[in-house]
Formats: sequence, structure tokens, C-alpha cells
Amino acid sequence: MVWFVKFLVFITLLVSSTIESAPESALITKLPGFDGSFPSKHYSGYVTIDEKHGKNLWYYFVESEKNPSKDPVVLWLNGGPGCSSMDGFVYEHGPFNFELPKKKNTSLPLVHLNPYSWSKVSNIIYLDSPVGVGFSYSNNESDYETGDTKTAVDSHAFLLKWFELFPEFQSNPFYISGESYAGVYVPTLASEVVKGNKNGVKPALNLKGYLVGNGVADAIFDGNALVPFAHGMGLISNELFESATKACNGSFYEINGPECEAKLIKVNEDVDQLNIYNILEPCYHGTSLSAFDIRSLPSSLLQLGKTEKRLAIRKRMFGRAWPIRAPVRPGIVPSWSQLLANLRVPCIDDRVATAWLNDPAIRKAIHAKEESEIGKWELCTDKLAFSHDAGSMIPFHRNLTLSGYRALIYSGDHDMCVPFTGSQAWTESLGYKVTDEWRPWMSNDQVAGFTQGYANNLTFLTIKGAGHTVPEYKPREALNFYSRFLAGSKI
Ligand SMILES: *[C@@H]1O[C@H](CO)[C@@H](O)[C@H](O)[C@H]1NC(C)=O
Ligand SMILES: *[C@@H]1O[C@H](CO)[C@@H](O)[C@H](O)[C@H]1NC(C)=O
Ligand SMILES: *[C@@H]1O[C@H](CO)[C@@H](O)[C@H](O)[C@H]1NC(C)=O
Ligand SMILES: *[C@@H]1O[C@H](CO)[C@@H](O)[C@H](O)[C@H]1NC(C)=O
Ligand SMILES: *[C@@H]1O[C@H](CO)[C@@H](O)[C@H](O)[C@H]1NC(C)=O
Repeated sequence: MVWFVKFLVFITLLVSSTIESAPESALITKLPGFDGSFPSKHYSGYVTIDEKHGKNLWYYFVESEKNPSKDPVVLWLNGGPGCSSMDGFVYEHGPFNFELPKKKNTSLPLVHLNPYSWSKVSNIIYLDSPVGVGFSYSNNESDYETGDTKTAVDSHAFLLKWFELFPEFQSNPFYISGESYAGVYVPTLASEVVKGNKNGVKPALNLKGYLVGNGVADAIFDGNALVPFAHGMGLISNELFESATKACNGSFYEINGPECEAKLIKVNEDVDQLNIYNILEPCYHGTSLSAFDIRSLPSSLLQLGKTEKRLAIRKRMFGRAWPIRAPVRPGIVPSWSQLLANLRVPCIDDRVATAWLNDPAIRKAIHAKEESEIGKWELCTDKLAFSHDAGSMIPFHRNLTLSGYRALIYSGDHDMCVPFTGSQAWTESLGYKVTDEWRPWMSNDQVAGFTQGYANNLTFLTIKGAGHTVPEYKPREALNFYSRFLAGSKI
């Protein structure tokens, strides 16, 4: 009898130890340059999705600082295509804020805790996707030729393996999120997950919904968005808006005859020197990427980008999306180096991320392969031959929302790269009943933007004054709408 009880205890221990099996080898125990204590557990490492090719996707997982066993698990994806999701980790909503070292002879950025980290209310997985991006790599370079559909299938394969590695999170609510070109990754991946669940693929993923920020959705809606945005923001004259609308017959996504073309060229000339990612921000043009040093700028200019973050916002980001007159169309999406061959190089400052993620001690600590094995970490890679092959996202959004998945489509309203006017128009075009009529939403007792709620749990939301990468500009407001959405409460 005693033996039997002991045996039962033994079995129970055995079973529970196989359930509670977050891989200890993936745990991050120390980050050089950060001497505080971690507010929650951090894990990182590779998940092999094709043994034969040696195809490995890299993730960084931050447990919730609130209640990891109950809080949602959220997957975060940056866009490009070709940009690392560590962009979001370093500059947007990760657990740390990074600061350039004051002394020029130290290369490691200073690391502080981020009071507005999305890990305050959720478990969050930053995934470098597709393979070839960030720290993800394949031993067979043919894998770098990819597209929307293959990316979704691969990320789904990653999720299945990841939830096997972290089985204790299988029953948490699960959300997929991302921005910019991830406006394609998110709904296509969500559809793969739904399909997998329907076909009984194990483990079942407890998908509840998704979030897309300044996301690409549809060539026509996104292509039509700039002219009304430029007019509404006071960037072009009434006269030009009216004559362009007439010449182009109200449709700007493709050039409709020489008169229309002439008007669109004029629109483009008017807005060309603005910072495409946030029209309120200054933009510096330089020919040398390394010549730009934020510390050498007059302090009055730095004030323009001031927020509650320690780090001044990057004055110009690079590789998030595409220039104004090139909305995403079916077929090969050009890489930045291809585009830049005939474009002025915008000034950028991604040195904090580049310095941190290429430091050998940091790479070792976060279980990323060495530079000698997989090369330098780059914010956005031009390694990929990437094809936009999934078409418009509208049918995906329709299917997902009609199947009961909750969707938050949010826009920094000063982004000119994927302007809110496009997202506003396509969400409205679904024709769902308005259940929460256009109204301001509040953060810290101030209007933080506007929202319109639709039937089928579809919400459109703007963030006032934010650019393309919302939490980078408005970290407090971003954490507010994010937590309210996840909690299912009114934003
Ligand atoms: C950096 O320079 C300062 C003063 O020039 C020196 O005291 C310090 O030791 C240097 N630090 C490193 C890491 O080389
Ligand atoms: C890489 O993958 C392709 C497609 O599966 C295959 O044809 C090729 O032989 C592989 N190359 C190597 C070196 O394994
Ligand atoms: C202009 O657009 C309207 C619909 O918006 C369409 O009926 C009409 O044929 C178009 N005209 C031209 C010249 O394209
Ligand atoms: C949407 O759902 C319909 C009906 O189930 C299906 O035929 C169609 O392929 C789906 N479209 C997308 C883009 O998921
Ligand atoms: C919207 O989501 C809530 C959970 O937050 C759920 O109870 C409700 O059924 C959903 N509504 C629709 C129309 O799917």
C-alpha cells in the first residue's frame, strides 16, 4: 500500500515534470550591461522547423510580469518584409529601454527597465520571421526565397513546436500581433492556425484574436490612402486635392492617365521631404549612414521627438515599409537596397539595436549564433527574395472576424507610410454594423486618439500623434489600449 502511494506520487511527479517543462537551457540568466534583476523570466533560442535543411527560427520570450500562468500569450512580428522583431523588442514595447553609452569608448548600450513594456500584462514572443531575418537562419539558402504563404506555414510550424516546448502556456489565451508588413503576416498566420485547429493538428492553439498596427492590407485601399491623408493633415492645398481627385477620378492607387500622373507627382513633391514614418518628426538627409550622430544634433531638434522614453525617438526609420508611390502590390517586394539605388538615403539611427545585438557577450547570453556562423544582426535584411503572394488581406480579416476572432486594427495617425486613412477605409468597407460610434478614447485623462467599434469584435483605433511604430512614440498610450484590448474591456 505504502509502496503503491509512493508509486502514485512518483507517477504524479513524472507527469507534472513533463507538463512544467519550459526548457531550462533557453532561460536567460544574465545580460551583460544590465545589473538589475529581471522582472520576469526571459527565454530565447532556436526552434528547428526543418531538420533536413537546418532551418531555424529564433525567438525571445518574455514572461508576463503580472500573472504568467493566466495572462495571454502574444506573438509579435515586425514587418519589412525582412525586418527583425527585435526591432519591436528594442525600440517599441520590450522589457527594456536602451540608451546610447555616454562614453564613446564603451560600445554596449545602457539597459533600463521599460515601465510601459507589454510584458506588464502579457507573455510575449518576439519571433524573427521568415527564416533569414534577424537571428533566424537556414543551412540551405534556397529557404531565403519565400513569400507570404510560406512564411505563414513556417510560422505556424514554429508555434506548434514552441507550444510543445512551453506546454504550460497551451491553455492561455493566444493572440497574434504585428505592424507594417506584418499586416500581411498576422492574418495569414492566424488563418493557418485556424485551419490547423480545424484539422485537429496538435497541440491545439488557443487563438482568441489578433492586433495589427499601421498594417498593410490591400493594394487599392492602401494605395488610395495618401492623397486624402495629405489633404486632411494640411500637407497639400485644397486646389491640388480637388484637381487631383478630379483628374484621377477619385482613385489614386494606380496612375489613371497623364493628367492624373502630373497631379500625383505634385502631391509627391509636396510631401517628399517629410519624415514618412511620422510627419511631425524632423527628417535629416545625409548620404552616409554612419555620419549621423544623434548626439551631434542641436538639442532643440532632439526635443521634437521627446516622449516619456529615455531614448530620443529615431529620427528616421528604415526598412519598415516602402516609399510613398510604391504601395505593396502582388509579386516580388523589392528589398531596401534595391529601392535605395535610386532614392535618397534617409537618415537612420538603429545603432543601439545593432550595437547590442552584435555584441558577442549579448549574443551568447541570448542564445543567438555567433556572427562568424550566421553573420551580423541587421534591423532589416536584403537576403530574402520575398513574394507578396497572398493577395488582399480583406478576405482573411472577414473570415477571421466572422469566425469569432477578436481584431484590433490600430494606426498611429501621423504615419504617412501606411496612413490611417487606408486602414479606416478598409475596416469600414467590411460593412459590419457600427456598435461603438467614432469617439475619443482616453489615456492618462487625455484624449489619446479615436476609435470606432464594429460588430464581430472588430475595432479600429487611432493613436493621436503617433507615427508608424506606435509604442515607440506613445509608449504609455500603447500599453493602455493593449491591456484594455487583451482584457476585453472598453478601450
Ligand atoms: C573609457 O575612457 C575613460 C576615460 O578616457 C577611461 O577612464 C575608461 O577606463 C575607459 N573605459 C573603457 C571600457 O575602456
Ligand atoms: C537545398 O534545398 C533544395 C530544395 O529542397 C534542394 O534542392 C537542394 O539540394 C538543397 N541544397 C543542399 C546543399 O542541401
Ligand atoms: C469614375 O469613377 C466612377 C465610379 O467611381 C465610374 O463609374 C466612372 O466610370 C469613372 N470614370 C472614368 C473616366 O474612369
Ligand atoms: C474564407 O472562408 C471561405 C469559406 O470557408 C473559404 O472558401 C475561403 O478560402 C476563405 N478565404 C480566406 C482568404 O481565408
Ligand atoms: C466578442 O468577444 C467576446 C469576448 O471578449 C465574446 O464573448 C463575444 O461572443 C464576441 N462577440 C462576437 C460577435 O464574436
